[in-house]
Formats: sequence, structure tokens, C-alpha cells
Amino acid sequence: MPIFVQDDKKQFHLQGKDVSYIFSVLPNGELGHMYFGKKISHRKDFSHLLQLPKEPLGNATFAFEGDSTFSLEFVKREYPSYGTGDYREPAFHFVYEDGSRVTRLQYDHFKRLNGKPSLQGLPAVYVEDENEAETLIITMRDPYTNVCVELSYTVYARYNAIIRSARITNEGKKPIIMDRALSASVDFPHANFDWIHLDGAWIKERHIACDRLSKGFQSVNSKRGVSSSLHNPFIALKERDANEHCGIVYGFSLVYSGNFLAGVEVDHYDMARVLMGINPFDFSWKLEEKESFQTPEVVMVFSDEGLNGMSQTYHELYVNRLVRGKWRQSERPILINNWEATYFNFTESKLMEIVEEASKLGIELFALDDGWFEGRHNDTTSLGDWIADKTKLPEGVKGFGQKVEQNGLQFGIWVEPEMISKKSMLFEKHPDWVLGVQTGPLSHGRNQYMLDLTKEPVQSFIIDTLSQLLSDAPIRYVKWDMNRNMSEIGTDYLDATRQGEVAHRYVLGLYAVLDELTKRFPNVLFESCASGGNRFDPGMLYYMPQTWTSDNTDAIERLKIQYGTSLVYPLSTMGAHVSAVPNHQTRRITPLETRFHVAMFGVFGYELDVTKLPAEEKAKVKNQVAFYKENRKLIQFGRFYRLLSPFEQNDTAWMVVSPDRQEAIVAFYRTLAKPNPGLVQLKLVGLDESKFYRVEELNAVYKGDELMHAGITLPAIYNGTVYSDSSFLAGDFQSVIWKLSVVEEGS
Ligand code: DGJ
Repeated sequence: MPIFVQDDKKQFHLQGKDVSYIFSVLPNGELGHMYFGKKISHRKDFSHLLQLPKEPLGNATFAFEGDSTFSLEFVKREYPSYGTGDYREPAFHFVYEDGSRVTRLQYDHFKRLNGKPSLQGLPAVYVEDENEAETLIITMRDPYTNVCVELSYTVYARYNAIIRSARITNEGKKPIIMDRALSASVDFPHANFDWIHLDGAWIKERHIACDRLSKGFQSVNSKRGVSSSLHNPFIALKERDANEHCGIVYGFSLVYSGNFLAGVEVDHYDMARVLMGINPFDFSWKLEEKESFQTPEVVMVFSDEGLNGMSQTYHELYVNRLVRGKWRQSERPILINNWEATYFNFTESKLMEIVEEASKLGIELFALDDGWFEGRHNDTTSLGDWIADKTKLPEGVKGFGQKVEQNGLQFGIWVEPEMISKKSMLFEKHPDWVLGVQTGPLSHGRNQYMLDLTKEPVQSFIIDTLSQLLSDAPIRYVKWDMNRNMSEIGTDYLDATRQGEVAHRYVLGLYAVLDELTKRFPNVLFESCASGGNRFDPGMLYYMPQTWTSDNTDAIERLKIQYGTSLVYPLSTMGAHVSAVPNHQTRRITPLETRFHVAMFGVFGYELDVTKLPAEEKAKVKNQVAFYKENRKLIQFGRFYRLLSPFEQNDTAWMVVSPDRQEAIVAFYRTLAKPNPGLVQLKLVGLDESKFYRVEELNAVYKGDELMHAGITLPAIYNGTVYSDSSFLAGDFQSVIWKLSVVEEGS
């Protein structure tokens, strides 16, 4: 994974597993981009890759007197500014004391480090051994304004990823206002790409959108204070002929949980510029003398094995080097959550009935959701008062938790610590802890307000209250919820010149709280949630290894949600539950088997009143739980492949293969029944061509190469029963899974 530095030419070549990233110092002293893509051999001179114009350009602005060829808008740049002849979207924009907005960064020096330094106060991918990765830090300075920019590039030996961030320091005496400080910018020499983004809304998060790049600036962003369910902090550029299995794809994923911008500008020379970082809208940051600002990092992935190749790099990198602690590689328990079973309306004896039944079914953890604390009988009240409501839990959280444990289940609890209700003891005591400009009415979301996490006393309150709760009761799992977006953003904690910092400072405050709590309680499994998937991003995964994927538990809607989510996020991060029918979000009725076949491709659980299931369904649930336990390691930590997309057709398919390719599970889903259907030949991927696999459900043995090139003929599915006769499919919302295991030839 070397980083080559050609000092005489000022050229830098980062080589990862199968990726190269090359740039150099330009004639005007700043950095020019040369290449990002498939690994190429190192050469002593890559000057030809700069592609500088040889002929004079028309209607352009030039850097050097007497020269009409070197124009910054024609050049591929590494961290572009505005104001010196490049009219594309810039990576940064600073305002100086004298009113000037012009920055002329000049290369100063480089530093090469083994490993990867952490980012102060921010989540980031990491190394466990200095030899896993190398980092190049390029320092640039503007001699006129005394601003210093350090660009950081990390490359790993095992991954096709380049990780970038920027650190800006005021080395002068007068303050600098930054109103844009993005994390990275990459210029591509052409724009023959589709761009992919994950769009959605509440209960339909991370649907795949794929559009042709067109001239101008196309972007997704969040202004909600959270990364949001409307757009995820991720985009990809895909060459037109690339698909799930082959072709060139570039992914860009921002390790951040707040307002972001991710965009691509196609200019008049048909070059494409990708930009990513904190959303400059409503952002400004004052840097006093000697102060620095660290941007979040962008994980840029290259794949020439299509979208699956890109996703697998993200999955492996995020499972192994973003998620931390005990739960990183530990199998996650099968839980049952009472939210859709009871909502706010429960008593301890009702919960215990669920616990007892769940215990008989083999479920491992009971998660007590919203409604357990003082006066919380609906969503208008009590957020901030994290003590048990004795009318529901007479012996408190501790007493209830112990009863759960006595039934052989672990105990977990729901909290929403970033919030405050006006009807609460906390609000009576600290009305000034509410986030927002207090000189007028504040908007609410779900009847609640946000705590001002820019304030240190608020951070301490959350840490202390949660620490007490987690120390008092036998809590093994925490669902950390967050059910509104930011509004009237402002704080009396900062002076007028710093109000543009509030949204980002909130996120930094949240990260500080999470850092402390996860350090204090390393054995607790934390799951983040924000009205489902309103904050499903790599930033949260650094602190909490899994996220509640969506409030939509309908199996058919989940096909799209989980398929889209898997573009970046591994199965071990996606909470997925079987819930009751008719489904509470869509009123759709789907077979129990289909609900299981969808939810089992994630961190699995149930979210329904198991006491109400008929005996025959209880028996099925017991089998599902046993099947998941038996295959949990394969599912949570195997290699995931998407096969058929629900965004393109009526059928969906995906599979997961164990790292040694000895085992796999394949799933096929048909949304609507087809009359008189033809056969489906499903070609599998990722298996060992030379091995024989027994397909348990079909009681047949196939060779790996057959399964991958000829495929399996889809059997008919009726009510979850698999028929080998393929002449019909009956009923909507059907699914089938196949478990494959390597066997000796002929066995
Ligand atoms: C929103 C979450 O996404 C739900 O799962 C549930 O925990 C509710 N909040 C509880 O208020």
C-alpha cells in the first residue's frame, strides 16, 4: 500500500489494494489532480496525466501574465478555491478581516505517516496496526492571508478506499470566517457517469435513485440538523455500462451525522467535479488566531466490480474499521421490542406475558421501548425525566429488568436523550436548555424540543443521567432514539458572530456525549434510531454499531429500504424486525415466512405481541429463531451480494456468502404473483466454482460453477412451501430461501 512521493516532480501516488490516486503540485503552486481509479504501476513521472491545455483557451481567466493556456477552470484540482479563475463550485470559501474572499493556497510540504491519525472530536475509520495504512498530509499555505490548509489522504493495504479530510488553521492574527469548508473534492476528466443517491422520507428511507449526469450542479443535502431520511450522505458515480456485478463505480460516503452537501458539477468542458462535506448553507465558522477546524472525512471507494464490489468494500471497511468495541465482531442478540405490540399502553404484567412467551420461543433480549418513564402515556410529555413510571413499572427499571433476566432474556431499554418535552420536570428546571433562538416561538416536532447540546452542562446532564440509569439496572442494550429535525437554529451559549456554528457544534456535542457513554459502558449494545432511519450514517455507526433501519416494518417496503441501505451499510448494522399483519404502516398482509425472509437479512428481531400468535405461528417463530441463531454469523458477517433489484422489477433477490465460501443463503422474493409465469433462472455469485453445494431446501447438490453460470431454476412458491414443479406461483408477497453448504462430490 505504498505512498510514492516523487519529490523532484512534486508528485504523489497513493496505491491501495487495487486502487491508485495520483496528484501533483501545479505550476501555480497549488495541487492538481491526475488520476483516481484502477491501480496502475508507479512511474517516475506522471506529468502527462495532468492534461494541461497546450493551446490558448477562449473566454477563460489565466494565472500567468503573457500566457493564455493555464486556466484554473480547465485544471483538475485537489481542493479548489473560488476567485482565481475557476468558476465551478469550490471546496472552500473564507472571508478575511479586510473583506477579501480570495485564497491562494500554495504547496508548502508533505508528511507521510504510518497508520492513520484520529480526527479530534469526530468519528473516523481507524487502524489497529500502523502497517495497515499510510497517511499523506499535504500542507498548503496562503502567504497573503496566513491561512493554512492540511489535506489528509489515507490508503489501506486491504481496501480499495482513499480517505480524505481537511484541517484549516488560522496562522494570522485576525479572525477568518469560513462559510464553506468541505471535506473533499475530486475532478474527473469526463462526465460519462450516472450518479446514484439514496433518497426517501420517513418510512421509505434510502431508495436508490440513479440519474444521468447533466450539465450544471446536481446535489443532495440535508438542512435538518441530522443526515436525514430524505438523502443519505452518500453518492456514487457509475460508468454507464456498470451494473451490480461489473463495471466501474466510485463511491463517496461522508462520516458525519449532521447537515451535509454531496454534489457533482459538470462543467462546460464536460469534466465532473464531486464535492462532499458539511452543508455550507446556514454554516459559518469563525477561526481566531491559532484556531483550527477539522472537517469530517469522506471515504472514497473505487470498484471495477460494479456496485456489489463498491458495497463490499464499504461493508468490510465499516464492519472492521469504523464500528468499534466489543460488539464490532460479536453476534448480535435476537431481540423482541414492544413498540408495535403495545405502543404507550402497557402494564408490567402485559410486558411479562410477552417476555415469558418470547423466552419459550428462544428470543434472547427484551427491549422496552417508549412509554416507561414518569408520566409518558403519549408523545406530548416527559422527555428528559428518565425515571421509571411506577404505575407501569412498580419496581422500577431495575426490578423489571431483573424479572426479564429471570426469564432467561437479556434486558434493553429505549431512551431519547437529546430531547425535552415542555411538560417535564427537566423543562421546569432548565427552560434555557432548549435549543433555538429564544426571541420568538419555537417550532416543535412530535410535540418535543431539542436539548442544546452545544452547552457543556447539557452534555454532562445527559452523560450523568444515562450513566445512572445504565448502572442501576441490568441494561444490556440501549435504543437511542431521536424523533425530530432542528429548527430556529441558534443558542445563547455563543455570541452573535458564531451562530452559524450551532448545527455543527450540536453534532460535536452529541459525539462527545456518545464517546463518553460508550467508553463508560463498553459492554452495552447501542442501537441508534431517528424516527427509524433519519440518521443512518457512518458517523453514528462509529459510536453505535447498529441502527434501526426504518419505522416501516412491512416486508415488501423493507425490500427496497434494505436493498438501498446495503449500498453502503453492512447487514450487521441494519435493525430488521418481523412485525404483525396487517402491517401498521401499510396495512399490507404478508406471509409470516416472507416477513422472516426479509428481516433475517439484518440484525434480526420481532416487534409484535407474540402472545397473540396462534400456536402454529408460534411454532414457526421458534423455528425461525433457531434458523437465525444457526446462521447468524454467516448473515451478520458474511459477504452480501445483491442479485435482483426491487427498484427495477417485481422480483428481488440477494444472497450472503461466508468468507470461506463454504456456506451461503440465497433469498428470492416475488412481490405480486404472476399468472402463467415463465421460469426464473437465478444465477448466483461469490461461490467457489470448483466446490459442490448441497441446497438443503431442494435436497439437491449442484456444482459452484453451475450455480453461478447456469443458475438455479426458481421453484414454484405457494404459501411459503417450495414445490419443485415450477409451473406456477401462487399468491402475492411470496419468498423462498435456500441454504447452501459445501459437500464432498457425490454426497
Ligand atoms: C420512533 C422509533 O423509530 C420507533 O421504533 C419507536 O421507538 C418510537 N420512536 C417510540 O416513540
